[in-house]
Amino acid sequence: MPMTTPSLLILPGDGIGPEVMAEVRRVIDWFGANRGLTFEVSEDLVGGAAYDAHGTPLTDATMAKAQSADAVLLGAVGGPKYDVLDFSVKPERGLLRLRKEMDLFANLRPAQCFDALADFSSLKKDVVSGLDIMIVRELTSGIYFGEPRGIFTEGNERVGVNTQRYTESEIARVARAAFELARKRSNKVCSMEKANVMESGVLWREVVSEIGAAEYPDVALSHMYADAGAMQLCRWPKQFDVIVTDNLFGDLLSDAAAMLTGSLGMLPSASLGAPMENGRPKALYEPVHGSAPDIAGQGKANPIACVLSFAMALRYSFDAGDEADRLEAAVGRVLADGVRTADLILPNDGGAPVSTGEMGDAILGALDSSL
Ligand code: IPM
Ligand code: MG
Repeated sequence: MPMTTPSLLILPGDGIGPEVMAEVRRVIDWFGANRGLTFEVSEDLVGGAAYDAHGTPLTDATMAKAQSADAVLLGAVGGPKYDVLDFSVKPERGLLRLRKEMDLFANLRPAQCFDALADFSSLKKDVVSGLDIMIVRELTSGIYFGEPRGIFTEGNERVGVNTQRYTESEIARVARAAFELARKRSNKVCSMEKANVMESGVLWREVVSEIGAAEYPDVALSHMYADAGAMQLCRWPKQFDVIVTDNLFGDLLSDAAAMLTGSLGMLPSASLGAPMENGRPKALYEPVHGSAPDIAGQGKANPIACVLSFAMALRYSFDAGDEADRLEAAVGRVLADGVRTADLILPNDGGAPVSTGEMGDAILGALDSSL
């Protein structure tokens, strides 16, 4: 790591974002105080919070800060209050602009089942226990960004249009990201598209196959239609290691995969782009869950997904894989001790949930005992 203190831009956002991020800040401080890992931390607004203050979900100034930060950590964006806004200023546009302008094309969404939560999955315990898969979702193209898009008038009715579009190079770079990850795991990639109905899927399959054969002959590559993939994820998820897929299918498949592990409140993600001058990838880390407006401000939210997103930052941006392991182990320990936020208690289970802050306390306690 270079000698200068790395910079971390924190964007708590909306809903439960600020509450879960407050716990992450305590974790960040812990690493500074106990492991000599210090960051130049700054905080700014995104999403509805930025709209309320500035009339836009992401100001140019915040965009510029994100571009120059060594890593960005985001909470969540959105809420019912903003549903009435024009599309161009909706909270989600702030997040999409960050992804697009930072060119964060590879979105890593691990779905890992903590032993202590295996009973909690809606699937049978032996189907999920030990589960550890990685979904690599393309994040800067496809139907999320393709043109033309809009609501147009044709004759006497309106028509809503979005366009799925992928260039060869966009497919190739996310495929490489998936193959590289597979080499550090079980050397297995499954690519998912709908080549049976979509030309973009045909091209996707061709390009992934070409890159695999030419550059990663050591990695076992398979293909699946995304609908069958969704079915297989529920049937026997442990058949997968790395899954690579497009932006929209990745959005759906990662929510499904997340739920296999028990709760959406558990899963982190890393969105990575090309390396910067200092060798670090452009990077944004965020929980897979949303802003959960129904429980916002009540201290009920599970901060683990956001805490684990910081662990991914330690691993992928700051070369501190050992410290990421330490943090993940601390979370595992807290769960093993039976500490549960409300999302980790089934309705017919009983038991009192801890608050967001108490979960933070427990994680810090487990970090202390890791020393
Ligand atoms: C996600 C979310 C976002 C997406 C929304 C908030 C724009 O669902 O990160 O999965 O659709 O990509
Ligand atoms: Mg989603």
